Amino acid sequence: MAAVVRLAVPGEAERLDAALEAPDGVYGLLLSRQTSGECALLVAEVGGRPVGAGLLRWAPRDAVVRERFGDLPEISNLQVHPDEQGQGHGTALVRAACARAAAGGHRRVGIGVGDDNPDAARLYLRLGFA
Ligand SMILES: CC(C)(COP(=O)(O)OP(=O)(O)OC[C@H]1O[C@@H](n2cnc3c(N)ncnc32)[C@H](O)[C@@H]1OP(=O)(O)O)[C@@H](O)C(=O)NCCC(=O)NCCS
Repeated sequence: MAAVVRLAVPGEAERLDAALEAPDGVYGLLLSRQTSGECALLVAEVGGRPVGAGLLRWAPRDAVVRERFGDLPEISNLQVHPDEQGQGHGTALVRAACARAAAGGHRRVGIGVGDDNPDAARLYLRLGFA
C-alpha cells in the first residue's frame, strides 16, 4: 500500500520513536528542530501507522557542504521501519522532501550517504541524485 507523507505534528514524538523503533527521544529532538524552523520532519504513514520518516533541513549541517553548495536544503535522517523497507516508502519520503524544497523556491536538494551504505546510494541515484 502506498504511503501518505505528511509533516510531523507536535506531541507525536513518542509515538514515532515507538513505531519506528528509534531510541527514546530521537523524534522529540527532530520535532524540536522543526519547531525552531531548522527543518521539516516528514512522516510516511500507511493506514494511519507511521512506517518511515525523514528530515528536510533548510541548510546543510556540514560546514564543508555549506561552503561548497550554499544554503541548499538537505535530506537527512531517512529511516523506514525494517519490516516496511523495499515497498516505495523511502522513495515517497524523498519525493515529498524534494517537492517541499521546490515549493520553497529551491531548485536543488542535497542528500548525504555513507560509503558503507550502497543500498541507500542506489536508491538516491535512481531518483536522480548525482
Ligand atoms: C534507505 C531506506 C530509507 C530506503 O527506504 P525503502 O522504503 O526501503 O526504499 P524504497 O522501497 O523506496 O526503494 C528501495 C530501494 O532502496 C534501497 N534500499 C536500501 N536499503 C534497503 C533495504 N533494507 N531494503 C530494500 N531496499 C533498500 C535500494 O536501493 C532499493 O532499491 P532496489 O529495489 O533497486 O534494491 C531504508 O531502506 C532504510 O531505512 N534503511 C536503513 C536506514 C538508512 O540506511 N537510511 C539512509 C541513510 S542515508
